Amino acid sequence: MTHVDLRPFDDDDADAVFEMMRDPDAGAQAAFTADDPSDRAAFDAWLERHRADDRVLMLVVTDDGGFAGTAAAFTVDGDREVTLWITRNAQGRGVASAALRLLVAREAERPLYARVAADNAASIAVLAKNGFSEIRRQRAYAPARGEEIDELVFALPPTLDGI
Ligand SMILES: CC(C)(COP(=O)(O)OP(=O)(O)OC[C@H]1O[C@@H](n2cnc3c(N)ncnc32)[C@H](O)[C@@H]1OP(=O)(O)O)[C@@H](O)C(=O)NCCC(=O)NCCS
Repeated sequence: MTHVDLRPFDDDDADAVFEMMRDPDAGAQAAFTADDPSDRAAFDAWLERHRADDRVLMLVVTDDGGFAGTAAAFTVDGDREVTLWITRNAQGRGVASAALRLLVAREAERPLYARVAADNAASIAVLAKNGFSEIRRQRAYAPARGEEIDELVFALPPTLDGI
């Protein structure tokens, strides 16, 4: 069993995140990506904007200390959302599930929301394992697919004891 952790994003992480997010298979899975994930200038501008925004929590996921992806929380129209992206060679062994558990523990706000492509089965499994449930299905434009697709909105409700 490897050790999964979250740490603050560092300038030196930018190259690894860019490479991870321009992987075409991962992009097709995530669906809701940048218009052109191989546009480095657009990526750098996106990164700078998010790092300067105090409503955005951007973290690096580590697996036994090495870069394994990103975990983020951000606010859209007053709703607090979370998202994860795990690099290809770290996938399939519980890293996202452990990272989301850590992210949920850091983010006090409830409900906490997440949006996924309806056919992103791995992402849906990770959310379900962490107590999220589907609350809505809607159509949304997915740049990586070049068309509107079904998007599922998940929510993590407050626990019964209010914690
Ligand atoms: C989705 C993603 C975060 C999952 O990361 P991961 O570290 O591989 O996830 P985990 O290993 O913790 O869990 C994956 C779960 O999905 C399940 N799974 C994987 N592929 C599946 C499939 N095609 N159908 C059904 N379940 C699937 C696994 O069995 C596992 O569940 P289990 O632990 O109960 O067996 C990763 O694939 C990723 O980053 N993809 C690219 C970007 C993306 O889609 N991000 C999410 C955007 S919202």
